Amino acid sequence: MTDSLAVRGGRVIDPANGIDAAGDVLIADGRIAAVGNDAGKGASRAIDATGLIVCPGFVDIHAHLREPGFEHKETIATGTQAAARGGFTTVCCMPNTEPPIDSAAVVEYVVRTARTEGAVRVLPIGCVTKGRKGEALAELAELAQAGVVAFSDDGDPVSDPHLLRRALEYARPFGLPLIGHCEDRALATGGVMHEGWVAARLGLRGVPAAAEESAVARDIALAALTGARLHVAHVSTAGAVELIRRARASGLPVTAEVTPHHLTLTHEAVLVGSGESPGWLAYDTNAKVNPPLRTREDAEACLQGLLDGTIDCVATDHAPHAVEDKLCEFDLAAPGISGLETALALCLTLVHDGRLGLPMVIEKLTVGPVRALGLHGDRVGAGLKPAPTTGSLEGLGTLSVGAPGDVAVIDPGAEWVIEPERFASKGKNTPLAGRTLRGRVVATVYEGRVVYQA
Ligand code: DOR
Repeated sequence: MTDSLAVRGGRVIDPANGIDAAGDVLIADGRIAAVGNDAGKGASRAIDATGLIVCPGFVDIHAHLREPGFEHKETIATGTQAAARGGFTTVCCMPNTEPPIDSAAVVEYVVRTARTEGAVRVLPIGCVTKGRKGEALAELAELAQAGVVAFSDDGDPVSDPHLLRRALEYARPFGLPLIGHCEDRALATGGVMHEGWVAARLGLRGVPAAAEESAVARDIALAALTGARLHVAHVSTAGAVELIRRARASGLPVTAEVTPHHLTLTHEAVLVGSGESPGWLAYDTNAKVNPPLRTREDAEACLQGLLDGTIDCVATDHAPHAVEDKLCEFDLAAPGISGLETALALCLTLVHDGRLGLPMVIEKLTVGPVRALGLHGDRVGAGLKPAPTTGSLEGLGTLSVGAPGDVAVIDPGAEWVIEPERFASKGKNTPLAGRTLRGRVVATVYEGRVVYQA
């Protein structure tokens, strides 16, 4: 008898197939076998999803897993366990490791480690420039053949426009996107948070919105020049959303993501303690992130971008750091938020407020990111070896028959208190500690195996 798992009796939401109905999901031999009423009859194992939402496993196209090199912050094992707890079954990992993912050898290390120690699927992203130094192109062809799904120097922009042009030209024939960390360093340098009234009150140097917008405009111009695919990472300003909206309207191959924190938090999250004790100001280094949390209007524009399709997906920018990286002066603190385990609950705050529909949140966490990076795409047709995964990625982010057997079971109403010390991630750095949020992952199934159950 084949091994099979039924997820029974939930509300099945599969945006790619327009499904939102009560039913079962059956997974056999690691792939989706059937969806519908009584589809789960006779399975060898079962999860009861009565009263719960059942959807494709989430896909995070932007996470920092820190291995190799920074295993004190996170490892592939702990980062993928955090992913499983957050409902994610696919994680694309950024190459700002040590050594950086700029050679086939490091790609192979990540792929092999993920296979033996990872809880979920890991798809590596390769560097744009050698050593992420922004000086010379990395061996993009070698990286593509080794299995990377995109190129990025994320954490740093590719500041030299000529080099970025060449990178786009080289990436184009492989059909792989270049993920832009859009930041004009000359404008941003010295800035540690959004340039606005909070920075002024705290006496901290700000990063103006223009630092992102001028870089987005430049990268869009280069995408137009080369015809290559550009994906804009962690959009944070209203102006950037508008630039991407116009680029898409003119037919350019530009996609974009927004993080849960840029959608739901503002620069005021940096400020703590001013309410109770007027005159006494303190900051929370856990709210330091790059790009910085911005204004209510910026967050609102990002939400509008998500709603009208300008922004394809939500990506966590999971950036775990060690305690000592945050327990210091704001200027010296490392930027980043540990985000895999709170992503769903943060997005659901918008659903509970009636500003976003639940099916849309699920779309932006599943098929949205898959389409943005083209993870389901035909690598072989582009002259590349298939992605280094156990099975084909066809149907990833959907519950189509034959798709990877990845499912998230969620309870959108369940209240929980964010306790970072209980995270599976080594990164306890979140500005949400102590907050009560609604919406939890109850179970995560990866290739037919239950990798997390609450
Ligand atoms: O806040 C951030 N942290 N933004 C980045 O772009 C990089 C990331 C990191 O690697 O810590």
